[in-house]
Amino acid sequence: MATSDLLLDPGILSNDPVLELYGWKAVEARDGLAVLPRRDDWLQALRSGVEAVGLPDRVAEGRFSQAVVYLQKGKAATQEGLATAWKNLVPGGRLLLVGGNELGIKSAVKRLAQELGQGGELLVNRARSRVVSFERTQHSGPEIPDPAEVEIECGEDALTLQSAIGVFSADRVDRGTRILLEHLHDVESPARVLDMGCGIGVLGLAALRRWPEARAVLADVDRRAVEAATKNAVDLGFSDRCHALWWDAVQEKPPSTDCDLVLINPPFHTGKKVDLDPARAMFRSLDQVLAPKGIALIVANRTLPYEQQLGGIGRIRMIRDEAGFKLLELRRGSS
Ligand SMILES: C[S@@+](CC[C@H](N)C(=O)[O-])C[C@H]1O[C@@H](n2cnc3c(N)ncnc32)[C@H](O)[C@@H]1O
Repeated sequence: MATSDLLLDPGILSNDPVLELYGWKAVEARDGLAVLPRRDDWLQALRSGVEAVGLPDRVAEGRFSQAVVYLQKGKAATQEGLATAWKNLVPGGRLLLVGGNELGIKSAVKRLAQELGQGGELLVNRARSRVVSFERTQHSGPEIPDPAEVEIECGEDALTLQSAIGVFSADRVDRGTRILLEHLHDVESPARVLDMGCGIGVLGLAALRRWPEARAVLADVDRRAVEAATKNAVDLGFSDRCHALWWDAVQEKPPSTDCDLVLINPPFHTGKKVDLDPARAMFRSLDQVLAPKGIALIVANRTLPYEQQLGGIGRIRMIRDEAGFKLLELRRGSS
């Protein structure tokens, strides 16, 4: 049973429109607005006739009498959801926090209760999940956490990027990403770069810094990441050479064409589950976008089974094998 199904128990939602953060079951049942930073969720919601936006700042303030927030893997992302919901509830409105034991719903409820100075009412406790209701009072509400800054080294140079709440490796450069970054020194100058699954733009923006003539497309399923990448490109003065796209590898066409250099640190989780479908979809896109003399660099946990699919696209070579990661180079042509 999905956690969101608990919301459909009788008496949990009123008949009013609902603001729903990171899910859309309640909006589908009652109308309202869903906030869905992942483009795959957003596309699915739209297909079901649900009104949805990718970012909370598109929500008009204070118009809902009920809001639902799903507990997220990261505390900061949950906190951001709660703060947004609070801001957009009318006084006396209800804030419902929903989540499973495996994500720590009990401690999240305790933290929120302490912050708001009220106990919270347990509405459902079933299937190892809970729905807890809080009343919108005059309290200023949960604080929105500040996003971190991330320093990346580009040869002698360093770049500072603004991160975003809830994105991959939000407060530091991932180890695999660093391994790929270090190898950029050894790559011939490309004209067109694609950073597939760009996050806040670490790889694509480092490439633009390294090659002042290059142009880059950065693409990611997470709208928060795409906004951060766009802002970083502007702050670094790269916006005329760079385009960041909200893109789902699984359902949509490749985001670029004729690329000389494609950089990928593929996702292998959706939520807490291992899921290789997005990576496989990225590799199908890679096959379509890689120019005849193009190169792709792919970094992954050493145990992930990507070689067979990549070998169908071109010649692969292991460039580095370090700290549980492998860095693969793929060139067009047969092995
Ligand atoms: C391992 S992270 C790498 C992020 C960034 N390139 C870096 O190295 O810091 C994988 C990225 O792929 C994105 N992603 C996951 N599923 C995707 C999909 N279906 N389509 C496009 N991007 C996806 C995630 O949001 C995440 O930012």
